[in-house]
Amino acid sequence: MNIVVGVTGGIAAYKAVNVIRGLVLAGHDVHVIPTDAALRFVGRPTFEAISRNPVHSDLYEGVAEVRHVAIGQAADLIVIAPATANTLAKLAHGIADDLLTNSVLASTAPVVVAPAMHTEMWQNPATVANVALLRERGITVVGPAVGQLTGKDSGPGRMSEPDEIVAAALAAVGPRDLAGRRILISAGGTREALDPVRFIGNRSSGKQGVALAVAAAARGAEVALIAANLEVDAPQHVSVTHVSSTLELEAAVSAAAADADVVIMAAAVADYRPESVADTKIKKETQGDTLQLTLVKNPDILRGLTERRTPGQVVIGFAAETEQDRTALIALGVAKAARKGVDYLVVNMVGWTEGFATESNAIIVLSGTGDIVSEASGSKAAVADSVLDLLV
Ligand code: CTP
Repeated sequence: MNIVVGVTGGIAAYKAVNVIRGLVLAGHDVHVIPTDAALRFVGRPTFEAISRNPVHSDLYEGVAEVRHVAIGQAADLIVIAPATANTLAKLAHGIADDLLTNSVLASTAPVVVAPAMHTEMWQNPATVANVALLRERGITVVGPAVGQLTGKDSGPGRMSEPDEIVAAALAAVGPRDLAGRRILISAGGTREALDPVRFIGNRSSGKQGVALAVAAAARGAEVALIAANLEVDAPQHVSVTHVSSTLELEAAVSAAAADADVVIMAAAVADYRPESVADTKIKKETQGDTLQLTLVKNPDILRGLTERRTPGQVVIGFAAETEQDRTALIALGVAKAARKGVDYLVVNMVGWTEGFATESNAIIVLSGTGDIVSEASGSKAAVADSVLDLLV
């Protein structure tokens, strides 16, 4: 999608950088229009580097290409973050005195605004009336959140978190084809404690599972995320349960599974855990040159889910494999899909530099009977959408 991000002059402009980044990582072509005031908070090179596009802000530049109309006409979506009280007032009254407000007037695309201002300004009757007018016209207003403001004050007026703005923005244009569906997603990697300070774990960051949760929520699903040691922020607009070990993950997933129409096990689960956990830190002096650990097998959560599947419930597993040869990789997937009894198995190749903790992914999706039903590669957001397309 061609997305215009307007940045107006508030201190929250620095957080707009993460909104831009989120939209770029989700695979969109982002064009930033800062106001002159915004450029006093964040420099043009930052917006250009993060958006990967040239940044224009002047109404009287590029006049020959009728830029003040062309940018708005080409946009599929306009996001304004932060939106100051002044900009909200201008939008409400159709004032177009800079490139951003001209672009909004010249566009028929959905508009999403994320207001940021001090509480008194947000609660001023003028702002209240302007925001009501904008909502009436179908403009999506995200936030503001209640919290610490720029000075010593706190209250309503703080700009919503970037991932919430990204999700709301994509939801404003995206299909609502999962509306009413309840989707349970596990993400991250489980950790098995050895003692109070150490664990056995894996390198899953949780990015793919979180991308699935964000995409499913944007498409209207009611998402429950069971998060195991995420290295990324958990999305704010879905219900999140934090767990650490495989047994904790099993308990949380089992409790939520009966109510779910779809279960997606994206978490990387530790297959074994230490037979006993030391109460105090394991010391070198008492261990000598080698340390023997006895590990016991963890339950297979996915297998348990498919055995207790409710009628009509769809269960999707993930398989992270290091096999490099495509035919052999698919053969491993076919066997795993059958062993686990899943409806779909999302197979991806992982290695020292691939799959885990990266921004992109490549997947082959197998049906329960081992047929290749879809393949996708690109950002984790794009991969998430392709899995959800299949589900739909
Ligand atoms: N899984 C699970 N419980 C486990 C191990 C894995 O629920 N104890 C789930 C994962 O969440 C994933 C799928 O099973 O959706 C496949 O995980 P993977 O680690 O690839 O498979 P394993 O069964 O552990 O087989 P192996 O590690 O031997 O390849």
